[in-house]
Amino acid sequence: MAADERDRFLEDGCAALEWAADYLDRVGELPVLAQVEPGEIRARLPAAPPEQAESFSDVLRDLDEVLLPGITHWQHPRYFAYFAVSASRPGILAELLAAALNPVAILWRTSPASTELEGLVCDWGAQLLGLPAGWHGHIEDSASTSTLAALIAARHATGRELVVCSEHAHSSVEKGARMLGMELRKAPVDDEFRMRVDALDLTRAAVVVPTVGTTSTTSVDPVPAIADLCAQTGTWLHVDAAYAGTAMVCPEHRWAFAGVERADSLVVNAHKWMLTPMDCSLLWTSRPADFRAAFSLIPEYLRTPDAEDALSLSEYGPALGRRFRSLKLWAVLRCHGRAGLQRMVREHVRLAERFEGWVRDEPGWELCAPRPFSVVCFRREGSDAENEAILERVNASGDLFISHTRLRDRYVLRLAIGSERTTEDDVRRAWDAIRAAI
Ligand SMILES: Cc1ncc(COP(=O)(O)O)c(C=O)c1O
Repeated sequence: MAADERDRFLEDGCAALEWAADYLDRVGELPVLAQVEPGEIRARLPAAPPEQAESFSDVLRDLDEVLLPGITHWQHPRYFAYFAVSASRPGILAELLAAALNPVAILWRTSPASTELEGLVCDWGAQLLGLPAGWHGHIEDSASTSTLAALIAARHATGRELVVCSEHAHSSVEKGARMLGMELRKAPVDDEFRMRVDALDLTRAAVVVPTVGTTSTTSVDPVPAIADLCAQTGTWLHVDAAYAGTAMVCPEHRWAFAGVERADSLVVNAHKWMLTPMDCSLLWTSRPADFRAAFSLIPEYLRTPDAEDALSLSEYGPALGRRFRSLKLWAVLRCHGRAGLQRMVREHVRLAERFEGWVRDEPGWELCAPRPFSVVCFRREGSDAENEAILERVNASGDLFISHTRLRDRYVLRLAIGSERTTEDDVRRAWDAIRAAI
């Protein structure tokens, strides 16, 4: 690299890092939900690419002036919608370094370090979460892909075509089944939104997907009873703990994950509650040979000695080229440690418990589901339209962002705590704003 190119890189890099540091400092002052109309941002950008090179400072300026108003701030302390997440600083820096190295891990030999680090961080993750020793782990982009991969492995291993989940399973299970042309059956749930096993028939099932921490209410499906049925029927057990899995780092939350040790595969998203920037979905299996049998396809131009092939993580999932996602998770796990993750999970659960208490004690409001983790489902006693209007009002204020779901055919508000920046003051402020919006 010419000296002036290096100087420019350093100068631009410092500016970008400064931008990121300032952004994280002031994100709490910005409107959480982007206050723009569809098409507005695009209309403010040139329709055609530049003929001549522009400077990186132009890019940074437009990020500030044009794109930032169109950003919904997931790093905001009062982001409470869907599942709130955090990209912590060590993860952000590691993403920069991963892009600098830019290894393409198609085979072990094209990136031994990223391949081996991926195995290592999955082992570390398994230890932190108390999973059985010896499980094979790799990283996918999303829980949707992880579950799709599990369905593929299950179909290959069982020769069956039926996918079973509860009516509260995430839509990625249905989407995976649809993409694979597999049949889907949704089991009903009990009054706490947990999969009912009394009526569960797995005789023809390739795979059953219980969820620990369902998307709407974070309910916990009865994995031990489902695992018993799997053992009787030869059904693959894929556990979706995309959101809640991180809570296993705290021994007091392990009750919710009983039976997970009997899973054939398990997905936990580090990009949800494990302080890791998008994207980083951890997929473990106790049956790596079945994954490899389903996914291994080695054309001549990729052939290496067999012992080496078995180490290539492209042998265990859909993608050939794999990026260096393990670097950010490694940085996160090292810079926060077990203690840091436990502290965060415990604080989020404590804050959710506080919020739940305020709702419970307030006349005219009701709780709509049990709260195992850091998500509270609640509503104003009244019509769906009134609750929807509350949601629209608070979100339009820009002060906080919440989302909703539908439970027992009623519109229900959801407050999800998961940002490392959220304090008790933020949760209190959210509750004040919600009450003021009736
Ligand atoms: C329980 C559960 N599983 C899977 C997913 C899908 O995750 P991803 O966006 O990583 O595909 C979600 C998303 O919120 C989820 O809540």
